[in-house]
Amino acid sequence: MMSEDQASNRMWGGRFASGPDAVMEAINASIGFDKKLYAQDIRGSLAHAAMLAKTGIISAEDEKKIAEGLKTILSEIENGKFTFSTRLEDIHMNVEARLAELIGHAAGRLHTARSRNDQVAVDFRMWVKEELERVDGALGGLIEAFLTRAEEHAASVMPGFTHLQSAQPVTFGHHLMAYVEMFGRDRSRVRDAIERLNENPLGAAALAGTGFPIDRHMTSAALGFREPTRNSIDTVSDRDFALEFLSISAICATHLSRLAEEIVIWSTPQFGFVRLSDSFSTGSSIMPQKKNPDAAELIRAKTGRINGDLIGLLTVMKGLPLAYSKDMQEDKEAVFDAAETLDLMLAAMTGMIGDMEINTQAMKKAAGAGFSTATDLADWLVREAGLPFREAHHVTGRAVALAEQKKCGLEKLALEDLTAINPAITEDVFSVLSVANSVKSRTSYGGTAPTEVRRQIRTWRKRLKRDAQTFKKG
Ligand code: ARG
Repeated sequence: MMSEDQASNRMWGGRFASGPDAVMEAINASIGFDKKLYAQDIRGSLAHAAMLAKTGIISAEDEKKIAEGLKTILSEIENGKFTFSTRLEDIHMNVEARLAELIGHAAGRLHTARSRNDQVAVDFRMWVKEELERVDGALGGLIEAFLTRAEEHAASVMPGFTHLQSAQPVTFGHHLMAYVEMFGRDRSRVRDAIERLNENPLGAAALAGTGFPIDRHMTSAALGFREPTRNSIDTVSDRDFALEFLSISAICATHLSRLAEEIVIWSTPQFGFVRLSDSFSTGSSIMPQKKNPDAAELIRAKTGRINGDLIGLLTVMKGLPLAYSKDMQEDKEAVFDAAETLDLMLAAMTGMIGDMEINTQAMKKAAGAGFSTATDLADWLVREAGLPFREAHHVTGRAVALAEQKKCGLEKLALEDLTAINPAITEDVFSVLSVANSVKSRTSYGGTAPTEVRRQIRTWRKRLKRDAQTFKKG
């Protein structure tokens, strides 16, 4: 005969030996992860209680007790003296239950004109807003790091690639500035998202608002929101701000992963364009010659997690009827994971960019390979000899074939060889065949010429300064 214990073990598995109650508690509880919201939860409750007192919904005396109790709880949590309980489900009920232990009867008045539905919405919005502000700062730091390196290398030549085949020479500074553009767009997405989420959900209550004479403008001001949200049903069912954070993170991570991949390629002995510092690489335990770009590889890989977080929450929200459903409790882990991951990726990339060594010699050598100035020859034929571009392209093709045959660069061909292909070619053509002259000539707005790159850097420095002034936290 099987004992009762064994039977329930078989049904529920070892972890849930005590049966359905334990399973329900485990699936229902969010305290394991939403305790991260404790500071926001307490701040929200303080603002709510102050408003309830100001509007005469609770007494000043009760508010005082509530506020003191909440501050005690805050310090208990911060000092690791608070016992979180799964039985109490989530951060909201954990805090409220402790408040009742501390101040008794008055604690029960805090939840007047409020529901956990607007409470969780306000807590989570505040958390996401703070994280977006952190990301904004981190992106500013990353852009600064790029500007410093781009300035050093405004005139260092490297091969520019399409299809990962050498295409035309560019400057390394220009290549780095391409990332400044990407991270600049990420930063502006962050600021747009903050602008949109900057509305206070508190006061929407369960879904329909409340009959109590609450003042939502007062709590908005206290919690640093621009204004209250306008529709109570939308307010408790909206998680767009979380989805926006995740999509911004996924796009930013994608940018980071492209750079990470380039760093992986550049740091191979075959390329040898950059050398990572020991802080961001590791040796191999078996092959002593190796230096592996682990941090870059992990940045590349962690993008997958963030994409997963985004798809996860999109899938949770898809098809959910209005207003609140418990499904939405699944929003937090995705956001917390993406936030932690992105913060780390940004920090690692900023460090790596700041201290990687650039091998300008190797870049220069590679920049001249693969007939990278062929377009310059074609352009010269158009400009100086009046050939239509298509014909110039054809003439250049023949010059490239000849150089290939002679196993030399275009600039090493004899003038007679070139005039034999097209008599309009003169000595002057050699002035555009060198890599340095090629990049110097690309002065079009946004082009790779060192003068243009320096202009872009100046513009970005001004923009960073302006951004620092226009963005006020809180
Ligand atoms: N822990 C819940 C969540 O994160 C809080 C809201 C619960 N609301 C409710 N009606 N059960 O979504």
